[in-house]
Amino acid sequence: MDQNEKKRLAAEAALEFIGPGTRLGVGTGSTVNFLIDALPRVAKDIEVFVASSVATERRLRAAGFEVAELSEAGELDLYIDGADEVNKQFHLIKGGGGALTREKVLASAARRFVCIVDESKRVGVLGGFPLPVEVIPMAQAYVARQFVKVRGQPILRKDFVTDNGNAIIDVHDLNITNPPEMEQRFNQVPGIVTVGIFAQRPADILLIAGDSGVDRRDRG
Ligand code: 5RP
Repeated sequence: MDQNEKKRLAAEAALEFIGPGTRLGVGTGSTVNFLIDALPRVAKDIEVFVASSVATERRLRAAGFEVAELSEAGELDLYIDGADEVNKQFHLIKGGGGALTREKVLASAARRFVCIVDESKRVGVLGGFPLPVEVIPMAQAYVARQFVKVRGQPILRKDFVTDNGNAIIDVHDLNITNPPEMEQRFNQVPGIVTVGIFAQRPADILLIAGDSGVDRRDRG
């Protein structure tokens, strides 16, 4: 089975979490795109859709769905999104697609966060995937220096502007042994909008697709 097939399997496994009246937050990325393709099967049960990016909003609208702002929708029942890395504690690295800020807002606004990944995303220690960090443009150099202090190698993502008008720094060579601590530490650096560690609000359920099917893990 190739990686795309695994992404599709994980995405389709998330449909079972959608029930009548679901207020749904929709993530961003290629795995979520498989979810959007499958959503017409359960559309009658979804009361409101909120998108985590302009790209997802466009895709939902192209599929014929209306998309609400989070401020109109209120609390979400469910947020479904992919990830770049997941560990055993359900901590994630996200932001490979640059949508991390809105993704973190929707994950935090949702009662349940279901994360859909193929097995290549599973790691022992986060940080093999370069950590995406959204920064306001004038703070780029200052923020980059803060990551050098913890032995990271910050690289500005070229020709990329987030949906919020900001830049992304991808920090290579981090060994994130304590994700909640690192998330909290860098949340406090002025100029950082969002750090792509999702540990203070981890996933609640992981759906990990491999050759033998989808492995479901529930956080204790
Ligand atoms: C976008 C994200 C995505 O969830 C992450 O990059 C995984 O993407 P894909 O499903 O394409 O592998 O965080 O900002």
